[in-house]
Amino acid sequence: MICINGDRLLSALRELATIGKFQTGVDRIAFSDSDVAARRWLVRKLTAAGLKATLDRVGNVLGRAPKAATAVLIGSHTDTVPRGGWLDGALGAIYGLEIARSAIEGGGDHAVDVISFQDEEGTFLPFLGSRSFCGELADSEIAATRARDGCALTDALAALAQEAPPVRLDRARHRCYLEAHIEQGPRLEGAGRRIGVVTSIVGIRRFRLRAHGRADHAGTTPMSMRQDAGTALMWFMKWVAEAFPRLAGPDTVWNIGAIAFRPGAANVVPAEAELTLEFRDARTELLDLLENRVLARVAESAGTPVRLEAERTMQIAPTAMSGELADTLAAAAATLGEEPMRMPSGAGHDAMVVGRVIPAAMLFVPSIGGRSHDISENTSDADIVLGCEVLADAVARLRKG
Ligand code: HGY
Ligand code: MN
Ligand code: MN
Repeated sequence: MICINGDRLLSALRELATIGKFQTGVDRIAFSDSDVAARRWLVRKLTAAGLKATLDRVGNVLGRAPKAATAVLIGSHTDTVPRGGWLDGALGAIYGLEIARSAIEGGGDHAVDVISFQDEEGTFLPFLGSRSFCGELADSEIAATRARDGCALTDALAALAQEAPPVRLDRARHRCYLEAHIEQGPRLEGAGRRIGVVTSIVGIRRFRLRAHGRADHAGTTPMSMRQDAGTALMWFMKWVAEAFPRLAGPDTVWNIGAIAFRPGAANVVPAEAELTLEFRDARTELLDLLENRVLARVAESAGTPVRLEAERTMQIAPTAMSGELADTLAAAAATLGEEPMRMPSGAGHDAMVVGRVIPAAMLFVPSIGGRSHDISENTSDADIVLGCEVLADAVARLRKG
């Protein structure tokens, strides 16, 4: 049995939310001052809880339980999207802190390591920290990566160059990975359920679409002479809006999250335009179909006044969670009087990276109004504490296993 302290859990979450606070949410994009400050704060909290804690030069924070040869690894991420919510990622990392601390205080033989992965949100590279932890991050990929604002990942990493060498998954030590997360959608609340157990995590494809035209005077250039990159990209967006609903499956989602025109002046015909497009589904064959249609549409622009170009910036396969671990989470929820909802995750998580190396499972708690990736993101205190109690009970069950 691991008895967590609900008040201490909520207090730690609220303390973390003051770092990078933005109105009712937080803004802690990867490698920002507030992100690094939150990571150093977590190292201090893990150390005070009795773990041996390290911030590594990628930005991952790992706390290792003392005097243990094997451990359950619990974690998530403490970086956020711009102007995001206070619980996305933070919930799972602080659950780990609270459960690891309670396990040490309880004196039992439950060993829990805790991790906060860097850049889960993909400011530079989606799942950068968990991919580094699993030894999947090539130096060449690091060297080639820039954030959307043009900042080089190598420059961001330079600020952490004096930290510890990258921490790595230790398969002899880390028996499994558990990640608790807010649902970030409306399903649990809509069904009146308080605990979700994730069956699988959708696959994600992400692209940077660029249009190459020519800058001209917006007042003197006849419409027939223009090579307008902005308009070309808007016709592409219109095609997505019309074609995707015909191609998609019942749970397919897609998003154009950012668009930019350059030079970006009212009286200049856009020379360049760029947008991000991503789409998600649990079925690889559907992701392949959508990708092939996008690339075919881009290829049709060859020889036209404005050439389109597509760069795939993310491809992560759908990932099934461990059925055995999911059953353990479900049994723990039932012990605490909650019938869990088995459900897929439409959001990506570090568990889809770690879950390809060791058994992994995810637990969801409800998001009020289904809102997330916004400062309005919230979950009731009671649901936050219940989720941690369920995860702690699951860890105790694993120990007996
Ligand atoms: O994009 C996602 O699904 C996650 O929040 N990074
Ligand atoms: Mn997250
Ligand atoms: Mn997120």
